[in-house]
Amino acid sequence: MESINTLKGYDKVSDQENQSPLPKPSSRKTLIVTISIISLLLLLTVVALTAGAFTHPPPKPSLKTICGLTRYPETCLNSLSSSPHKLDLDSILESSIKLASDSVTNLSLSFRSINDTPEEEPAITDCVKLYNDALSQLNESMSEIETEKKKGGNWLSENVIGDVKTWISAAMTDGETCSDGLEEMGTVVGKEIKKEMEVANQIMSISLAIVTQFKNLH
Ligand SMILES: *[C@@H]1O[C@H](CO)[C@@H](O)[C@H](O)[C@H]1NC(C)=O
Ligand SMILES: *[C@@H]1O[C@H](CO)[C@@H](O)[C@H](O)[C@H]1NC(C)=O
Repeated sequence: MESINTLKGYDKVSDQENQSPLPKPSSRKTLIVTISIISLLLLLTVVALTAGAFTHPPPKPSLKTICGLTRYPETCLNSLSSSPHKLDLDSILESSIKLASDSVTNLSLSFRSINDTPEEEPAITDCVKLYNDALSQLNESMSEIETEKKKGGNWLSENVIGDVKTWISAAMTDGETCSDGLEEMGTVVGKEIKKEMEVANQIMSISLAIVTQFKNLH
C-alpha cells in the first residue's frame, strides 16, 4: 500500500513538473551559474577532505614498537600485553606505572617478611625504607596522571612528563641504593627477592622510557 501511495505521490509531482513551462533562455544562464557554484562546492569539499586526510593523527604505535624503545623489550611485551587497552599509549604508560607500583609493593612486602633481625641486617631495613619511598614516588606519578587526565584534552603536558620522569627516576635510584647497600654490607638475600628486584627495576625503567619517548610516540 505504502509503495503505491508513494508512486501516486510521485506521479503527482511529475504531473506538476510536466505542466510547468520549459526553461526560458534567460533561466539557462541561471542554470549554468548554479552548476558552476555546485561544481565549485564539490571541488572545495574534495580539497577539504584531502587536506583532512593529511592532518589526521598518525597511526597509533603498536605495543611492540613502544616496547622496542625500552631497554627490556621482552619484559615490556610480556608484562604489558595483558593490559586492557594495549593500543592506547596513555593507557600503556599508566599500566606500566601501575605494574611498577605493584611490583614494588610486592618487593617491599618480601623485604619486610625477612626483616626480623633489623640490628643484624641494617641493609634490609634500608631496602624496606627505600622501596617504600619508591612506592610513594610511583603513587605520586599515578595520582598526578589521574588528576591531569580528568582535565581532559592534551593532558600529558611537558610539566607532567617532567614530574613523572623525576619521580620514576627517583624510584629507580631507590632501587639501586638498596642493591648497593646489600652488596656493601655483604647481606645475602634469597634468589626470589633478587629476581623480584630485577623485575621491579626493569619495569620502572620501562615506565621511564615510555614517558621519556611519549611526545615522539604520540
Ligand atoms: C604481587 O603479588 C601478588 C600476590 O602474590 C601477585 O598475584 C601479583 O601478580 C604480584 N604482582 C606483581 C606485579 O608482581
Ligand atoms: C600507594 O598507593 C597504593 C594504592 O593506592 C596504596 O596501597 C599504598 O599505601 C600507597 N603507598 C604510598 C607509600 O603512598
